[in-house]
Amino acid sequence: MAPIIQVEGIQKQFDARPVLHDVSFTVNKGDIVGLLGPNGSGKTTIIRLLNGVIEATAGKILVNNWDPHSQGHEIRKISGILTDGAGLYHEMSGVDNLRFFGKLYGVNDETRIQQLLEDFQLADHQQKKVGTYSTGMKRRLGIIKAILHNPTILFLDEPTNGLDPEGIQMVLQNIHTLNKQYGTTIFLCSHILHLIESVCTQYLFLDHGTIIESGTKSELETKYIKEISVKIETNAVVNELNPLYKVVKQDGSYITFILQTKEQLPRLLEEILKKQFWIHHVEIQNRDLESLYFQIRGVKNEDR
Ligand SMILES: Nc1ncnc2c1ncn2[C@@H]1O[C@H](COP(=O)(O)OP(=O)(O)OP(=O)(O)O)[C@@H](O)[C@H]1O
Ligand SMILES: [Mg+2]
Repeated sequence: MAPIIQVEGIQKQFDARPVLHDVSFTVNKGDIVGLLGPNGSGKTTIIRLLNGVIEATAGKILVNNWDPHSQGHEIRKISGILTDGAGLYHEMSGVDNLRFFGKLYGVNDETRIQQLLEDFQLADHQQKKVGTYSTGMKRRLGIIKAILHNPTILFLDEPTNGLDPEGIQMVLQNIHTLNKQYGTTIFLCSHILHLIESVCTQYLFLDHGTIIESGTKSELETKYIKEISVKIETNAVVNELNPLYKVVKQDGSYITFILQTKEQLPRLLEEILKKQFWIHHVEIQNRDLESLYFQIRGVKNEDR
């Protein structure tokens, strides 16, 4: 796949204070990339740089082969952007906001606007001034605004902030659909790791102003997860099992084992069943994005 975002050696200072000191990464067309990092690490700054809202102190950025600083308007034509304020007009109604931004993007499609208002459950609230909207309603309207013109690239800064569980599902499903149907490239930041884990195809880990790690989840797992912690609901008697399978915790019928390789898991399960014990549930505990996040940050900070 061809790269659609190329970032090389980016530095950014605010009032002589360095925030980003050497950021390089590439995003391929059709990827859903999660940019992860602690508060203040520079995620929003990167999104603003990519859109040409602010200018880098040094380094090179290309978005769809355009330089965000001199050709930001070209980038914004093919991008959808959701940031904190969402740039909505509070004195205007929800639907008028969408009509206004639609015109700006060259989309005069009332049917599409009404469909999106339905999809995001805002149809009944479309005539209300946005200033009277709840946090979640503003967020949903901001997302509609971002996807209204069917962008090639979508930048989402904390897209699920302030949303209720239904709202979160709506947004995640939409991200999936846009990506599958239209091949939309999506670049998002979020702290809700278990949510973005279900949509992202690639991850970038930002820390202390630089990208400390990147890759797909399975690449990162191979690199960082050395042991597998597995919790099994079973009536197995630990003493009757091969001591190779180290037990680290037993809580009623839940036993947590530490395994040295993935291949040990089917062998352990087979042994339990062969000895006529039952198994009701098996859960690998340390292979989620959150475990990887702490592992990567922990390892890299030790390196410093
Ligand atoms: N316009 C600005 N002027 C001065 N400093 C700024 C400006 N914008 C951002 N910063 C500083 O840059 C750093 C990175 O901010 P940024 O908003 O990019 O972090 P973030 O990773 O998005 O954090 P969060 O997870 O809290 O959203 C912070 O120290 C912030 O104070
Ligand atoms: Mg931010």
